[in-house]
Amino acid sequence: MSTAAIHAGWRADDAHGAVVPPVYATSAYAHESHASLRDLFARRCDGFAYSRSGNPTTAVLERRITALEGGIGAIAVASGQAATTIALLALLEPGSHLVASSLLYGGTTEFLDDTLADLGVTTTVVDPADLTALAAAITEDTRAVLVESIANPGAQLVDLPAIAEIAHARDVPVVVDSTLASPALYRPGEHGADLVVHSATKYLSGHGTTIAGLIVDTGRFDPRRCPARWTRLTTRNRRFGVTFADDYERGCSGLLAYARAKYVTDLGATLPAASAQQILVGIETLDLRMRAHSTTAADLAARLHGADGVERVSHPTIPGRPDAPLARRDFPRGTSGVFSLELAGGEAAAAAFCDALELWTLAVNVGDARSLVCHPGTTTHSHLTEAQRLACGVTPGTVRLSVGLEDVEDLWEDLRRGLAAVAALPAADEAAPVP
Ligand SMILES: Cc1ncc(COP(=O)(O)O)c(C=O)c1O
Repeated sequence: MSTAAIHAGWRADDAHGAVVPPVYATSAYAHESHASLRDLFARRCDGFAYSRSGNPTTAVLERRITALEGGIGAIAVASGQAATTIALLALLEPGSHLVASSLLYGGTTEFLDDTLADLGVTTTVVDPADLTALAAAITEDTRAVLVESIANPGAQLVDLPAIAEIAHARDVPVVVDSTLASPALYRPGEHGADLVVHSATKYLSGHGTTIAGLIVDTGRFDPRRCPARWTRLTTRNRRFGVTFADDYERGCSGLLAYARAKYVTDLGATLPAASAQQILVGIETLDLRMRAHSTTAADLAARLHGADGVERVSHPTIPGRPDAPLARRDFPRGTSGVFSLELAGGEAAAAAFCDALELWTLAVNVGDARSLVCHPGTTTHSHLTEAQRLACGVTPGTVRLSVGLEDVEDLWEDLRRGLAAVAALPAADEAAPVP
């Protein structure tokens, strides 16, 4: 993993011997002949024509994440949100059905509930730990099951082999948002995922500088097994003049070729080359960082568990967590730096806690080298209904922590400052009545 993170997809064989993949800041690519550009547009050869649909720097990132996830191909796009959107649009069409985990990033739930519903796709939301409900939710129209490998913000883990067995028995592909795990902790393709999506904004970047997204085809999905179900891939596409499923004959992803040709191009959700380079630099230290994030987070979770004012710590290592066996079986390298805690005093306690912190930054991001804190109920999950928030474990007292790479004692000292501010709040029956 650590070797591939530095070398996969790039050798210093550029015209000038550049050691680090250079930023190809170009909109278009010059071709020697009319035939060359014509053949590229006719999809008779590979190459670059225009950077909206492909760029050499971005292509290095695509090869690197393909290697890290052990897949057959990848597409880099403008954000994690674009990755989820494009992956699902490539699988779903008006009238089709999605089974989605109740434990998803708030922005994903909003997309399913609003924009995807506008496009005529219905979604059934299930607790991913309830395998009976998941099996019952799959219908003849289901075209994907969507889960997060480590859920944001409660760090709940999924039993992916069990979910994939149920979905694959009905020929339904499984899409896994593995943003919080990153391939350094967990490779969903080894546990049954068909597609993996990442917000590369988070751990893959690692330094909070860049918005980016990735979609990886793990090589399990093959539309030729059910050609009538996936006619968009298995029949000749009028617009592009090819049958995308033919790409599988040469070990490439027909689904991603379709997604790039149609959705990346039409929606224009292109990742800038400079952003791709930032993510590539971040990935070089991914393995080291993920171990440090995970170790410090588990340490702080243990210290917060049972602390005054803390009702619950949501981390897989906390005694009684139902996913503890999954953590041991599938996540031996840790479960990242993200977890949440529930303060007994609700939103007032969460506000006092966040406002008292000096080292932790109040910001709605995760996976940064800096430790970050936020209140999901009024930010990342604020546009959901109360029932949706409760289903993913977000209550008024929930605070999300994204543990960075600082010294654990400094982080703990600051968290104690936050807990002291909570303890100093007047008791609920002494507090001034809300006007
Ligand atoms: C698990 C998860 N998936 C997807 C996204 C969306 O990614 P981006 O912000 O890069 O669009 C986020 C953002 O917080 C996330 O946490």
